[in-house]
Amino acid sequence: MKRSAWPRRSRRISWPPLGPQLDAFEAAVRDYLGADVHCVGLSSGSAALHLALRIAGVGPGDEVWISSMTFAGGIFPVNYLGATPRFFDLDPASWTVDIGLLAEELARAARANRLPRAIVPTDLYGQSVDLDALETLSARYGVRLIVDSAESLGASWRNGRKAGTGGDAAILSFNGNKIITTSGGGMLVTRHKAWANEARFLATQARDPAPHYEHSTFGYNYRLSNICAAIGLGQMQVLDSRVARRREIFARYKAALSRPGIIFMPEPEGLDSTRWLTALTIDPAETGVTREDIRLMLLDHQIESRPLWKPMHLQPLYAGAPYHGSGVDGVLFETGLCLPSGSDMTDQQQDEVTGHILALLSEPG
Ligand SMILES: Cc1ncc(COP(=O)(O)O)c(C=O)c1O
Repeated sequence: MKRSAWPRRSRRISWPPLGPQLDAFEAAVRDYLGADVHCVGLSSGSAALHLALRIAGVGPGDEVWISSMTFAGGIFPVNYLGATPRFFDLDPASWTVDIGLLAEELARAARANRLPRAIVPTDLYGQSVDLDALETLSARYGVRLIVDSAESLGASWRNGRKAGTGGDAAILSFNGNKIITTSGGGMLVTRHKAWANEARFLATQARDPAPHYEHSTFGYNYRLSNICAAIGLGQMQVLDSRVARRREIFARYKAALSRPGIIFMPEPEGLDSTRWLTALTIDPAETGVTREDIRLMLLDHQIESRPLWKPMHLQPLYAGAPYHGSGVDGVLFETGLCLPSGSDMTDQQQDEVTGHILALLSEPG
């Protein structure tokens, strides 16, 4: 009889921490996405992006073209690989990457023989990027497309196609603040079986087949644990109801606060955002108050709200990095606010938030 070197009890929580819950979670996400994709559970969304970029061949001297308005975890992996980011503005009609700008710059770069290694557009605040246009551009120029869907699990692009199924690969995050969480975790979703196999290999310390530890390249400890995956598996059952609740919260804010000078994040025809966070902008000239007036007033009432992501080209870390756009993202940052949007927020709690904002807006200027 074959005997394990490990005591029986430790087999499930051993290294690498794989197991049936992880397999089942990956299968559940794949079934939910309803596409011909491979899912690899990882320790974070940033880890998923790091692996996707590495597998795409990104390295020193390469450019990665990326939405400037994103979270740090959606850009730092470009730095891990020694590549250079080039930042792109948003389209005001969708608050996702401006496809026209990207197309123009790709045409220019193709003529100058300086195409990027990869494009990384961000699904902002639960809204899918234009998958059709981006996939067309990526195929036309032979540039890898990695969609940052960390914030958009549960959203749909047109014709019911789910966010998270785009490009060569998409990344998901199950961080604590996401619509579903594994406490911390992420996933690489890819239509390439070879990418999924390589991600699994690199995420478990790049162990070559051998009874001992044998390495011909370096890897990472990036796999999602079986225990965290079990949490994710349970969370998948509440994903749709959470999306419905977030959309309801958005609609209630919109009904209560819509007025000249307050603009809610648009949702283009045919798209279904998760409304992960309710995001809006406040024009001080029309409303008489600034974004900061509202944020600080809410804070006085122990209510947390947040400015929108600060565009990366405005961050000290990326000072001087190339940027294409007219600063739509900068204006969104200056005037934008994310309101409390947790799925477990009650109507009463939400009415409290809107009540405070309405009171501030009605104060004589
Ligand atoms: C747009 C975006 N990209 C990447 C990440 C990174 O995901 P994680 O925090 O799981 O590393 C996040 C969120 O955290 C995000 O919002």
